[in-house]
Amino acid sequence: MLRALDHPYAYAQLVADRLKKGIMVVSVDQNGKPNVMAASWGFFGYQWSRPVYIVPVQPPRYTHGLIAQSGEFVISVQPESMDDDMLFSGACSGRDVDKFQARGLTPVAMPIPGFKTPGISGALLHLACRVIHTAGAKPLSPHTFFFGEIVGAYADALP
Ligand SMILES: Cc1cc2nc3c(=O)[nH]c(=O)nc-3n(C[C@H](O)[C@H](O)[C@H](O)COP(=O)(O)O)c2cc1C
Repeated sequence: MLRALDHPYAYAQLVADRLKKGIMVVSVDQNGKPNVMAASWGFFGYQWSRPVYIVPVQPPRYTHGLIAQSGEFVISVQPESMDDDMLFSGACSGRDVDKFQARGLTPVAMPIPGFKTPGISGALLHLACRVIHTAGAKPLSPHTFFFGEIVGAYADALP
């Protein structure tokens, strides 16, 4: 059962601590099929007075095209017991593997009208984000920075 957080950054330290190892970035294709990848880059802040999570994704990732096409992503911050799922999601591509099926992951819908991307059930918390801006990081890195307005923040398996 998801519980809306009082503030999108209520657990910012937890998210930052988990980012050191890697968190899970969920996206969907045009048929609503979810994919997940690991990310250990990520940033919090405000832009146009809106709470934002920035996820840097390299263009070759399958996730890159999915986020660009859907304009959405979900950050699911997994507990340590799911770190192997996170590492798996960072070791193969959704172009080749249905990672949800391969790891027995269950999608959990974000309770936001019209929002298509699920989180991963059993994560500590989820940040549902709509892309409001993108920026390239060249020449220092090839990543695209997707600036996602946090339109929903939910506790899931938080103790
Ligand atoms: C711990 C870890 C952290 C990672 N961090 C990032 C990241 O911040 N940005 C990125 O583009 N790729 C990152 N990767 C690589 C992607 O997760 C990996 O290329 C993944 O297979 C892409 O999946 P996809 O093709 O289904 O999108 C990371 C991988 C691991 C294992």
